[in-house]
Amino acid sequence: MKKPTYFFKILSIIGLISAFAFTVQKENPDFSTRKVTFNTGWNFYLNDSVKDKDTINSATIWRTLNLPHDWSIEGEFEEKSPAGYGGGSLNGGLGWYKKTFKVALENKEKITSIIFDGVYRNSQVWINGHYLGKRPNGYIGFQYELSPYLNYGDKINEIIVKVDNSKQPNSRWYSGSGIFRNVWLETTNKLHVGQWGTYITTPKVSSQSASIHLETTLKNQYNSSKKAIVTTTILKNNAKVASATQNVTIAANASQVQNQDIIVKKPVLWSVEKPEQYTAVTTISIENTVIDEYKTAFGIRNFKFDLDKGFILNGKRVKIKGVCMHHDLGPLGSAINTRAIERQLEILKEMGVNGIRTSHNPPAPELLDLCDKMGFIVMDEAFDMWKKSKNKYDYSLDWDQWHAKDLQDQILRDRNHPSIFMWSIGNEIQEQWSDEGVIIANELSAIVKKLDTTRLVTAAMNPAVNMNIDEVTLQFEKSKIYFNKLATSGALDIIGYNYAHQTFEHHQKNFPKIPFIATETTSALETRGHYDLPSDAVKIWPVRWDLPFTGGNLGNTVSAFDQVRAPWGSTHEATWKVIKKHDFLAGMYIWTGFDYIGEPTPYVWPSISSYFGIVDLAGFPKDVYYMYQSEWTNKTVLHLFPHWNWKSDQNVDVWIYYNNADEVELFLNGKSLGTKKKIGDDLHIMWRVPFQAGTLKAVSRKNGKIVKETAIQTAENSSKLKLTADRNTINADGNDLSFITVDITDEKGTLSPNANNEIQFSLKGSGKIVGVCSGDPVSHESYKGTKHTALNGKCLVIIQAGSKAEKLELTASSKGLKSNSTIISVQ
Ligand code: GAL
Repeated sequence: MKKPTYFFKILSIIGLISAFAFTVQKENPDFSTRKVTFNTGWNFYLNDSVKDKDTINSATIWRTLNLPHDWSIEGEFEEKSPAGYGGGSLNGGLGWYKKTFKVALENKEKITSIIFDGVYRNSQVWINGHYLGKRPNGYIGFQYELSPYLNYGDKINEIIVKVDNSKQPNSRWYSGSGIFRNVWLETTNKLHVGQWGTYITTPKVSSQSASIHLETTLKNQYNSSKKAIVTTTILKNNAKVASATQNVTIAANASQVQNQDIIVKKPVLWSVEKPEQYTAVTTISIENTVIDEYKTAFGIRNFKFDLDKGFILNGKRVKIKGVCMHHDLGPLGSAINTRAIERQLEILKEMGVNGIRTSHNPPAPELLDLCDKMGFIVMDEAFDMWKKSKNKYDYSLDWDQWHAKDLQDQILRDRNHPSIFMWSIGNEIQEQWSDEGVIIANELSAIVKKLDTTRLVTAAMNPAVNMNIDEVTLQFEKSKIYFNKLATSGALDIIGYNYAHQTFEHHQKNFPKIPFIATETTSALETRGHYDLPSDAVKIWPVRWDLPFTGGNLGNTVSAFDQVRAPWGSTHEATWKVIKKHDFLAGMYIWTGFDYIGEPTPYVWPSISSYFGIVDLAGFPKDVYYMYQSEWTNKTVLHLFPHWNWKSDQNVDVWIYYNNADEVELFLNGKSLGTKKKIGDDLHIMWRVPFQAGTLKAVSRKNGKIVKETAIQTAENSSKLKLTADRNTINADGNDLSFITVDITDEKGTLSPNANNEIQFSLKGSGKIVGVCSGDPVSHESYKGTKHTALNGKCLVIIQAGSKAEKLELTASSKGLKSNSTIISVQ
């Protein structure tokens, strides 16, 4: 790579500033708020994404955009993309961002900093030609103080960010590229609460009272020592419940940690069902004037991982029913959007999910805020590799210089979130079977423990212990055990199992003193709405990475009967049956909640996204979603599949997931096909039915009384489009989204289960179509276009609000089908 001459480049850029039109940001006119978003009105330029030319100059043509931004998602899927199939066949490249802004004169005596929540990857930042620093890790938050280099009043400032994601491959999944998380500007007094400056723990919690311990870092950037009063007020629903005040003296240009202890009487505890939070408002005052105010949301809860009983939250056993998630948001790519994350979590909550693993990196802060608010048990993960690489240009290259700082910053940033219960120091680390791994694991664990001892440290090991099952007797054999080095390193407080569900039941024998968590399970594969018959025909995805699915090339489309799995994984049912059986198995995180871009398995073109999700890339549940819903929620479930459009007399396996009932009776065109019930640990029932067009109806009963009825019909010819918005009213904030499902149906409204028509979208109003997606892992159509081909009758279009109140009208049309429109109110 050509070495850039930054000095020259920055000088020439500064020279150019006057030539460019700039907009002064409305979003932050007076800096009255401590932290404001700094996302709008950036300029962006992408160097040749493949050849990696590293230049900007007077000829550079910039494009204006708002952050968060992911440039890779705007590109085309390419079979030979340097990112590889793992990276979703979308290119990385090298991008430049810049933004001009003014800072009010009155802020001259203040401290102004810029906060990046995450820039993928290798970001370098300059302000007015001064180099502020570099951050290789794309998932970590960081900030730079700008004040020493700022112009105040009418003079313009320019910030430049170079993002280098050109060395590929560097990720096993789709990373996205660019300033893909929020950017903030923070303005404080010279005496203020430092970066991530509060740490709140709840050492003693009972229903009567909770003791709150606060450690607050006070930073004095004055050249003289300061006497001040520090007050922390605890609020519940904006009402004061307790407070503590102290006089402090902070030396010139120094930081100090202030301890405070506060009792909250009759605390309202944070739980999965009622994720109640408190707010700690810390103020620093000098001579009766508040000069800084810092808010920290936190929760009061107690928990333990018990060797026999599993996870205990506030004295109650809670099975962790979690899913692993990558950070992309399907068609939106990796550019974070709070509503898009919230929608994912809502869909998962509806299924009964109560846990999220942030595989395999620190997540966007908004995800953690939402998990706090919505009640998820989070495993916050740091790394997918340590010193040894998994991809040629991955983070292993930055390991020596950055890992300690990155891990430390993750813990400092995240340690007040009530939803976090475990820190994972790594996923399937290459060093896990070596002595070197033991040394690194202990180093990482010590870094975590220095900053937080209230949560458990784990690592996701594959496997934690070998499959110590005698092949003849199928019995557990102690003599055959060998342990993962990390598991016996002493670094871990809880043993993290990736896969090998056959070993779970032996955990207590293998690790009598360390509790259990299945950090990653299952890896079953499905394409939403696609069914191969008979349902058990296709079982294990081939043993070789590079081959298409078994049974010949099925077009890289996988049957949605829960039968197809990666060789190291299991069907959904198989792992859940084990986890369900024993209390000491605290729970699991399934690979994965949603499909994600990249890592198609099989690892072959034309697949560009994964098949592991319980929910597809567009957010449409696959059938197995309802198996979990029937097991994990109290909602009455009666889900029958596949669809009812087959050839006459073809044998169709009809699967049914149900709950809250003793039995189910199935009717074809009014004629009973008999009654069935789950036996033993069954999780579904099945009929093999010779197909006849018409109506297939299931009726579930308890004690002879009907609990629920569900019917599926044979669809006639496709005739029209049905539009259903998840929300018909959205906020006029320029960010909010409406997710609109498009169903292709027959004249009567029955979903056409095999329809794959191309659908065009148009929008009236100042909103934007920001994503289109069918959930098809082999589609190469852009998610950023205005047309898309449906998969098995369904497609999704995402509308983003503008910043004015108006009515947006979305029209969907498709050749040979009746068009349809829907109105989204922006308020
Ligand atoms: C695991 C790995 C995940 C993903 C998964 C696919 O081994 O931790 O990142 O690759 O396999 O089955």
